[in-house]
Amino acid sequence: MFLEVCSYFIYSSILGCEHYVLHKMRSLPSHIKELAFVAIKDDNIVGNITYTKSFVKTESGTFFDTITFGPICAAPAYQGQGIGSSLIKHSVEVAKNLGYKAIIIYGDPAYYERFGFRNGKRFGICDPDGKYMKGLQVLELYKGALDGVTGSFFHDPVYEMEESEAAEFDKTFPYKERVSETESQRKFAEMIVQEYNSEDEL
Ligand SMILES: CC(C)(COP(=O)(O)OP(=O)(O)OC[C@H]1O[C@@H](n2cnc3c(N)ncnc32)[C@H](O)[C@@H]1OP(=O)(O)O)[C@@H](O)C(=O)NCCC(=O)NCCS
Repeated sequence: MFLEVCSYFIYSSILGCEHYVLHKMRSLPSHIKELAFVAIKDDNIVGNITYTKSFVKTESGTFFDTITFGPICAAPAYQGQGIGSSLIKHSVEVAKNLGYKAIIIYGDPAYYERFGFRNGKRFGICDPDGKYMKGLQVLELYKGALDGVTGSFFHDPVYEMEESEAAEFDKTFPYKERVSETESQRKFAEMIVQEYNSEDEL
C-alpha cells in the first residue's frame, strides 16, 4: 500500500524513498506513535503523516526539543481533496494537547504557510550549516513558544539515507516503476537548496 501512496523524491542530495524512511522510522525511539495518522476513504488508506523528535541547538549550546513531520502524503488519485490539510491540522491539534512546543520541517512554503508555518529566519533558526533555506518552515504551537530560541535545526538522521539501501528495500516489493522529477519533487528540491534572500518577506 505504501508503494502506491508515497512518491519518490530527492532529499538532500540523495534520491530516497519515503516508504523506506517510514519503515525505518517506526522502530526508532524518536518516532512519535501518538502523532502517526492515516487518512481512510472508501475503506482504503489514502494518506499518512508521521512525526519524529528533532531539536534546535541554540547559540548558547543548549538543546530545545521540537518535532518534525514527514513523510506526509496523499495518494495521487486523492490529492487536492483536503487530505493533506486534514492530516496536518489534526496532528497539530494533537501535538498541542500533548504539550509539544514547535514543529519544524523542510517543505514548500506555498503549501505550508497556509497552516501558519513561517520561514526559520523569522525565528533565527537555520539549518546545521548556518543557512536559512527557503524550505525551512517553523510553526510555534503556542504564542511565544520559540521566544529566545535561536540556533540550528537538526532532524533525525533517518531522513538521510543511502540510495542503495532504499533500492534493496524496494526489491522486497512487487516491481513498480520509479516516478521521479515530478513538479512537486522539483519544487521541494529547490526549496532545500535555495537560500532565503533579503527581498523575501519574513
Ligand atoms: C503535498 C500533499 C501531501 C498535499 O496533500 P493534498 O491532500 O493533495 O493537499 P490538500 O488537498 O490539503 O491541499 C491542496 C492545496 O495544496 C496545494 N499543494 C499541494 N501540494 C503542493 C506542493 N507540493 N506545493 C505547493 N502547493 C501544493 C494545491 O495546489 C492546493 O492548493 P489550493 O488549495 O490553493 O488549490 C500531496 O499533494 C502529496 O502527497 N504530494 C506528494 C508527496 C509530497 O510531496 N509530500 C510532501 C513532501 S514530504
